[in-house]
Amino acid sequence: MPEKQVTLSSKKYLPDPQYRKEAWCKDAAHAYQGFLTDPDGFWGRISQELEWFEPWEKVKEWEYPFARWFINGKCNMSYNCLDRNAAGPRRNKVALFWQGDDGSERSYTYWQLLREVERFANGLKSLGITKGDCVCIYMPNIPEQIVAMLACARIGAVHSVVFAGFGSDALHARITGAGAKIVITADASIRRGKTIPLKPILEEALINATTVDYIVVLRTQDPKIDLLPEFEKDFYELMESAEKNCPPEKMDAEDPLFILYTSGTTGQPKGIVHTTGGYMVGTYYTAKYILDIKDSDIYWCTADPGWITGHSYIVYGPLLAGATIFITESTPDYPDAGIWWKYIEKYGVSIFYTAPTAIRMFMRYGDEYPNRYDLSSLRILGSVGEPLNPEAFEWFYHVIGKEKLPILDTWWQTETGMHMITTMIGEPMKPGFAGRPIPGVLVDIVDKEGKPVPPGVSGQLIIKEPWPSMMRMVNQNEERYRQYWSGPDNSYGASDLAVRDEEGYIMILGRSDDLIIVSGHNIGTAEVESALVAHKAVAEAAVVGIPDEMKGNRIMAFVLLRDGFTETAKLKQDLLYHVRITLGPIAVPSDIRVVDQLPKTRSGKIMRRVLRAIEMGEDPGDLSTIDE
Ligand code: WTA
Repeated sequence: MPEKQVTLSSKKYLPDPQYRKEAWCKDAAHAYQGFLTDPDGFWGRISQELEWFEPWEKVKEWEYPFARWFINGKCNMSYNCLDRNAAGPRRNKVALFWQGDDGSERSYTYWQLLREVERFANGLKSLGITKGDCVCIYMPNIPEQIVAMLACARIGAVHSVVFAGFGSDALHARITGAGAKIVITADASIRRGKTIPLKPILEEALINATTVDYIVVLRTQDPKIDLLPEFEKDFYELMESAEKNCPPEKMDAEDPLFILYTSGTTGQPKGIVHTTGGYMVGTYYTAKYILDIKDSDIYWCTADPGWITGHSYIVYGPLLAGATIFITESTPDYPDAGIWWKYIEKYGVSIFYTAPTAIRMFMRYGDEYPNRYDLSSLRILGSVGEPLNPEAFEWFYHVIGKEKLPILDTWWQTETGMHMITTMIGEPMKPGFAGRPIPGVLVDIVDKEGKPVPPGVSGQLIIKEPWPSMMRMVNQNEERYRQYWSGPDNSYGASDLAVRDEEGYIMILGRSDDLIIVSGHNIGTAEVESALVAHKAVAEAAVVGIPDEMKGNRIMAFVLLRDGFTETAKLKQDLLYHVRITLGPIAVPSDIRVVDQLPKTRSGKIMRRVLRAIEMGEDPGDLSTIDE
């Protein structure tokens, strides 16, 4: 992708100076300098705010492209999230508030959450799970999902959480890819007042998934669904018959904590592997010093634990920081577009961390919804997942932030595990810019030759030094892992395009590979293409992302039909339905075009950029490699 001159606005908002005085990180520039002077000392000091069963001997070892952090340190993530807090003044503090779509509510103190986790951890042990085994979690956004994650962490089982919106093929690939021995699910999830069965999707996904010994089912529906006696266990019956106390497993800092699948640029999703110690330090550090979580906060991140944002900033980071977290199963516009603002008023949410796609949706519904509610408890706003465009920033800042709240536009990835770039609290904010690298992170923007580009010129975003919560491996695919670290001077290539201004503020321009970010969810073009080609009517398919005002991007599919099939409205419906069932609703194209031919290079690669340009009425650019 060629570098381009980008016109940058110099608009700035200055936050109330009080924020800086009261923030955990009072002086980002000073902290950054401290990191540059002594990187290992910087991370070592942060790690000391957590508890280690045995201290580490060295902060890091870096043998390109493999890093190890907190060498020989022994710790446990669930211990640091729960026991450490339950042993002190936070024992009776609410760790988790949950609000169901039907109006039901639940809450857990740190003590109660620890109790639940210990029992469920013993339940998993009783099914034969031991340290290093993989457990897949396919559940809606409910407290039991978090209990299951923490229980795995407690006994050293590696969890692989799969977003409940994925379909059976996508789930199958994730279960077998990680070799899960147990899958934990729920009978159903509730979306927009409707009950959506989950277990049947799992049943289909389990066909030929030979590694799975048991499934654990949370039964929420009345009457209770039947379970197969030997193979299917009830979530709460498993807990009831289990021991109360479960001592945390002593994990080496480098023992894996979880695998999380993210879209790949080939048809296969990539299993991103994170380890215990470094991920713990990275998420703790950013939850405290970037999100600025204080004991008096009610913290709400609107993601789902099925994504990295949920792992790092619903579950692990905030609990490590001793937060009261709020979660809900509700979608933002059901029963109406005021529901989230109503929750903010009701629970007194003070830190609200959401996604640009939600902000744009609220913008479209109009100011009247938020204006109906008292949002005065809010103190910090955050955004993640895709670029927060200036219009959405302005709306968030004026209508929700009442022209005084800081907005943290945090750039990071599944692979980075933690925040990398943002405007820190108290720093001037610039609409459209994520901000600068946070203390602890070194980034650059480079051209095709790997040379840094000047301000105002776009290039590839790279990360120049390892950081504690970096992924350690792509599950069973070392080559793919190595590709990430093939940037100039052995740097990490983020596959994002970016541009910087004179003050070092970075604007993220979007992906530079074949991933499409739709409403903040990463979708691999190849994954959708293979789902389409699996349909009997399709000979070939190409999928591209088209900019969309609401979703950021939408998926546009081009298909070449097999002989004997003709284009009909019904056939198009069938294709969309097929993608929905196999990959899940998030991957369904917004439109399908039937074509006679697909533009290809002479070596047979589909030229997606040409399709995209034609679709958008733009110049398709250099066509010299196109086949006749
Ligand atoms: C995009 C989500 C612009 C980016 C945490 C990245 C963003 C991909 C931002 C990772 C942001 C994430 N501004 N773009 N603040 N945050 N992205 O792995 O393209 O689901 O590479 O992690 O999301 O998506 P992932």
